[in-house]
Amino acid sequence: MAPRAMHPSDGCVWITGASSGIGAALALEMATQGWQVAISARRQQALDEIAAQHANIHSFVGDVTDRAAMQAVVETIESQLGSIALGVMNAGIYLPTALPDFDVSLFDRTFEVNLTGAVNAMAPLVPLMVGRGAGRLALVSSVAGYGGLPTSAAYGASKAALFNLGESMAMDLADHGVGVSMIAPGFVKTPATDVNTFSMPFIISAEEAARRMVKGLGQAKTHISFPRRFSLLLRLINMLPRGLYVRLVGRSTAR
Ligand SMILES: NC(=O)c1ccc[n+]([C@@H]2O[C@H](COP(=O)([O-])OP(=O)(O)OC[C@H]3O[C@@H](n4cnc5c(N)ncnc54)[C@H](OP(=O)(O)O)[C@@H]3O)[C@@H](O)[C@H]2O)c1
Repeated sequence: MAPRAMHPSDGCVWITGASSGIGAALALEMATQGWQVAISARRQQALDEIAAQHANIHSFVGDVTDRAAMQAVVETIESQLGSIALGVMNAGIYLPTALPDFDVSLFDRTFEVNLTGAVNAMAPLVPLMVGRGAGRLALVSSVAGYGGLPTSAAYGASKAALFNLGESMAMDLADHGVGVSMIAPGFVKTPATDVNTFSMPFIISAEEAARRMVKGLGQAKTHISFPRRFSLLLRLINMLPRGLYVRLVGRSTAR
């Protein structure tokens, strides 16, 4: 019963953090491909505007930091749309750290949404998928999780943790028919990156990111990373001895 790719005939897809950016683009792409798509986030109006763009998209308000709310969202989706075959843990925030100012609240908020939020959303889903012997969980991490980067002490740590968490879950759930995919985008043009003042090499549109995600998920890939050249470059740099990596990346990104 090896985990396989999920299809619209297996059930619906639930995407967290789909009121804008990558999540919204993914919802539209999957709806166009015939999926019934449940989208959630905190902003009802923004969700409704996405849902209005395609009859297959349905909005459900829910904050990923609220564990009980995630349980309720999953129950409501399954009662209205049927089994969730694919859960995409996409909700995330980027709060740059400005060391040497060590602002602990940035770490708390980042970990609460990016890491604990994903756990909260998966908690009600895992037993349902295991009970059905089928399903796929996708964790939206980042290439920033491959190794440390300047101003990313909180964000990068949360995304690195998602890789570790996802790999463990992939091993533990494989015999139960539940697959786990980790997604590592490079720079994607979204409201989150529109505020960045630094250069963002190889940046792609949210629509392009959504297409890459759908393709990788359709192939039941464990690791989905794009754009390919940027991801490959970062993975190669991350194979350097760690001391050299820190010196090299620190120097080449110094402003
Ligand atoms: N853009 C990039 O270059 C890039 C690169 C690598 C990885 N990523 C990852 O991709 C994911 C999407 O990012 P994006 O660039 O599309 O950013 P975005 O446009 O800002 O979207 C973030 C989404 O997360 C939701 N969200 C934030 N806090 C939430 C909470 N507490 N509960 C529920 N939903 C919450 C937001 O909705 P509400 O405000 O309505 O709650 C929004 O829908 C994130 O995990 C991000 O780390 C992005």
